[in-house]
Amino acid sequence: MEMPRVAAAVALALSLIFVNLAGQCSGQLQFGFYNGKCRDGNGFQRNVEDIVKQKAKAKFSTDTTIVAALLRMQFHDCFVNGCDASILLDVPNGEKTAPPNLSVRGYDFIEDIKTEIENTCPGVVSCADIIVMATRDAVVESDKKKLGTGWYPVQTGRRDGRVSSAQNVNLPSPSIPIPQAIAAFSSKKLSTIDMVYLLGGGHSVGVAHCGLFENRLYDFKNTGNPDPTMNTTLLKTLQTLCPRNSGSPNSVNLDQDPLKSSSVDKSFYEQIRLGNGILEVDQQLALDSNTRFSVARIAGSNDFSFQFGQAMIKLGAVDVKIGKDGEIRKKCAAVNSPDRSSDGKFFNLFG
Ligand code: HEM
Ligand SMILES: *[C@@H]1O[C@H](CO)[C@@H](O)[C@H](O)[C@H]1NC(C)=O
Ligand SMILES: *[C@@H]1O[C@H](CO)[C@@H](O)[C@H](O)[C@H]1NC(C)=O
Repeated sequence: MEMPRVAAAVALALSLIFVNLAGQCSGQLQFGFYNGKCRDGNGFQRNVEDIVKQKAKAKFSTDTTIVAALLRMQFHDCFVNGCDASILLDVPNGEKTAPPNLSVRGYDFIEDIKTEIENTCPGVVSCADIIVMATRDAVVESDKKKLGTGWYPVQTGRRDGRVSSAQNVNLPSPSIPIPQAIAAFSSKKLSTIDMVYLLGGGHSVGVAHCGLFENRLYDFKNTGNPDPTMNTTLLKTLQTLCPRNSGSPNSVNLDQDPLKSSSVDKSFYEQIRLGNGILEVDQQLALDSNTRFSVARIAGSNDFSFQFGQAMIKLGAVDVKIGKDGEIRKKCAAVNSPDRSSDGKFFNLFG
């Protein structure tokens, strides 16, 4: 019981040292980027990560669904135009307005954290970093019963993007075949095993609405029958919850373990092995030859927490803007200055 924890702690320490060294040299993300950078109006040093943590704790105590909202937000932000908070921008035809946005929530909470930080040390902390820090803290809060996920370190130093367009939104559909999902993650420099951890950890909390899995319940792929891979007990429950062609607004937990559906943990892997995946992609993760062995192994492992944290660090590094690229927004919903792509070229040549 104790050994794997020690090993995980050592590996974590080593990876921190390694990435920190790598980050010193150039414009890269760093652990603790904001250390010593936030001074309040009285000249006192303030700990940015601590401000975010207190906010996340308070929020979670009144709304436990915030963990699902933020995990999904980080995924969508990072997969569309990089982790640059472009998902938060209120602009005509922005990312927010694209159809897969459906249940992306938590915008107001991020703005609330931003306001508090701006009142403390204005112009220092990016919205993109707030998303990543707040998601980590909500994940930690979700596990007060120590069922699965512990604290993981986050890298910071991202800058906010100036562009947000619904046309850039190209997120995987709930019925995407696993080989195509692997390709989509691979295009973001995320490996198959990263995907297994991110999808399984992400979908260990939160809900899906009928419209996103109804295709599995009655006439799967024009067979006239339900998806044969679905557990028959679950099938009956879902058919009741989502009557055929009813356009029902109902939703169901993505993690079907009733005791663990709001804690980020490995329970999802056991559930999909029982045929209790809600989305087609979730169920296929347990069946496809590319991922089924990893799923079986993680279901019986005791280092999910550490591995999920590592995968979240990688997700948080997708196409980030750093250094002179991007800006620190004053409000997360609006850019300070419009995109002038010639600026970027100038800095590339001389910066
Ligand atoms: C192939 C990849 C993925 C697909 C196709 C996918 C698809 C979906 C769909 C269709 C929903 C239901 C939305 C709704 O009914 O409103 C959902 C929910 C969710 N997804 Fe994913 N997802 C993927 C990967 C991820 C990843 C990598 C994460 C985070 C690390 C994530 C986190 C979540 C969360 C937390 C929810 C629940 C949201 C809530 O309850 O508000 N997903 N996803
Ligand atoms: C999300 O997309 C739908 C279209 O599918 C749109 O009606 C809705 O307004 C969008 N949500 C936001 C916050 O813009
Ligand atoms: C269906 O799910 C239930 C738990 O929800 C489980 O007990 C049962 O073994 C599953 N059936 C199959 C065939 O895996």
